[in-house]
Amino acid sequence: MSVKVYFIGCGPGDPELLTIKAKKMIEQADVIIYADSLISPEICGYARQGAEIHQSASLTLEEITDIIVKAVREGRMVARLHSGDPGIYGATQEQMMALDNHGIEYEVVPGVSSLFASAAVLKAELTVPEHSQTVIITRIEGRTPVPEREALRKLAAHRSTMAIFLSVSMIDKVVAELRAGGYQPDTPAAVVYRASWEDEIVLRATLDTIVERVKAAGIAKQAIIFVGEFLSSKEKATRSKLYDESFKHGYRK
Ligand SMILES: C[S@@+](CC[C@H](N)C(=O)[O-])C[C@H]1O[C@@H](n2cnc3c(N)ncnc32)[C@H](O)[C@@H]1O
Repeated sequence: MSVKVYFIGCGPGDPELLTIKAKKMIEQADVIIYADSLISPEICGYARQGAEIHQSASLTLEEITDIIVKAVREGRMVARLHSGDPGIYGATQEQMMALDNHGIEYEVVPGVSSLFASAAVLKAELTVPEHSQTVIITRIEGRTPVPEREALRKLAAHRSTMAIFLSVSMIDKVVAELRAGGYQPDTPAAVVYRASWEDEIVLRATLDTIVERVKAAGIAKQAIIFVGEFLSSKEKATRSKLYDESFKHGYRK
């Protein structure tokens, strides 16, 4: 069977951050299932007239699978739209496994993750030489379990750049965990709410003050918490080797 189902990363919100490929697929699709909590209705506006459109927030995995299987059996093309990039926190694996069980092929179209949209809003490089060359993408345990070896207090030991998804409603617990892991109260922290949307909010603070700032702003979802020295590294500027005059490489002899 030829590919009929596309898992499409639709970026952080701003329709202009959709890839050309994603837009093309949405325009061609017969059936669109989209994560309505994080994908702008404007993006579904690219659908052709007569396309069948479903909002996924209220659907179960079984209902989503039924819609896809039925459409594929009828020879119709399905675009399953996910926010950001489908590769992180998208619950895509369970959908792929369900399609595997039905022998249905699929393809994944990458998108701009909210991680990078947020870094852009912060005008920050997540990997600053001599501060951190590692980015930990994680979340705190909520209803979704997190393996004990990945507890925030354990990850804190690395002092790497941290991007904490799906956790802003538990900001007190996030800070308590990071502090228990050895972070000092003056460690730079930031929260980006709805990066690239019109109501985007950016808070820059320290671990000592971020809880109060988040609560005062009323942010309880759709945000990433960033922690790490990269947030203040412009003040203690270091240079990469890549653009250093003395660093020769294949493109600069
Ligand atoms: C279900 S996950 C989807 C992540 C998505 N796959 C991605 O790559 O951005 C939803 C979480 O992603 C983050 N998120 C999604 N869109 C965001 C945005 N525009 N600004 C800030 N955080 C966002 C928040 O942590 C939110 O709780």
